[in-house]
Amino acid sequence: MSVRFRDDDACWCGSGKMYVNCHKDFDARIKRARMQMHKVPSRDMIKTPAQVEKIKESAKINVAVLDYISERICEGMPTSDIDKMVYEQTTKMGGIPAPLNYEGFPYSVCTSVNNQVCHGFPSDKVILKSGDIINVDCSTILDGYFSDSSRMFMIGDVDPKAKKLVEVTKECMMLGFKAVKPWGYLGDMGQAVHDHAYSNGYTIVREIGGHGVGVQFHEEPWVGYHTKRGTDILLAPGLMFTIEPMVNMGREDIYVDDENGWEVYTEDGSLSAQWEIQVLVTETGAEIISW
Ligand code: MF3
Ligand code: CO
Repeated sequence: MSVRFRDDDACWCGSGKMYVNCHKDFDARIKRARMQMHKVPSRDMIKTPAQVEKIKESAKINVAVLDYISERICEGMPTSDIDKMVYEQTTKMGGIPAPLNYEGFPYSVCTSVNNQVCHGFPSDKVILKSGDIINVDCSTILDGYFSDSSRMFMIGDVDPKAKKLVEVTKECMMLGFKAVKPWGYLGDMGQAVHDHAYSNGYTIVREIGGHGVGVQFHEEPWVGYHTKRGTDILLAPGLMFTIEPMVNMGREDIYVDDENGWEVYTEDGSLSAQWEIQVLVTETGAEIISW
């Protein structure tokens, strides 16, 4: 339960302003939504301006690392080279790759090729060849603050069908982002992503979604794409989460490699694409923090 604040108390967000001039209206809106049975964020999910600044510093590294990879990734490159580059560039800029040793994950980055859905292990045995599509998923810790985003890359000559999957998946993510509005609902985003994928004949993985992020790698809320407009958690300003749909050309079903417990594949062997951005809900709209 949250503490009740008096008008002239310092606001709980740490802004230094009086409660009445800061988050009083915010709390009233949250309370109203809760009484209407909506899911609402708890105070610890709302990023303070000071936290947002720190997270943006972390994201600068994350974006720079993905930019670095995008200039170098090419046919003939083993995905273990991507792992090396991510480790070297992240640490050179003072950050730590968040995946490394996260719940036992043994690499600095996830590299997921073709029918691999996510959490692919970089390997000297996986050599990028013409026609491959690959997701490179980078996450950075700087001074304890987390950033997380991923991009697709198309290697050499890619089949037009695969190219379309990659492009539509990016459109899904951006349509989701456009649906993020202060005091809207997470389901507005979910349905926007969902409808674009399914109207193109694709499916979206159900079991793995996006997540709150910033103070920890994975925070609440869980972010799915099979939700309806006007449902799911209230998008209060200060909420930060990822939009990262995994879009399959074939069926939704996936399986996890039971030897390593990490790598995820499409059950039917069809191609899968994913893009990820880290998003902040603001008073007036939404902002992309990492891409
Ligand atoms: N970056 C991934 C995400 O989007 C997480 C990878 S899990 C890890 O949430 F263990 F590989 F780090
Ligand atoms: Co993520």
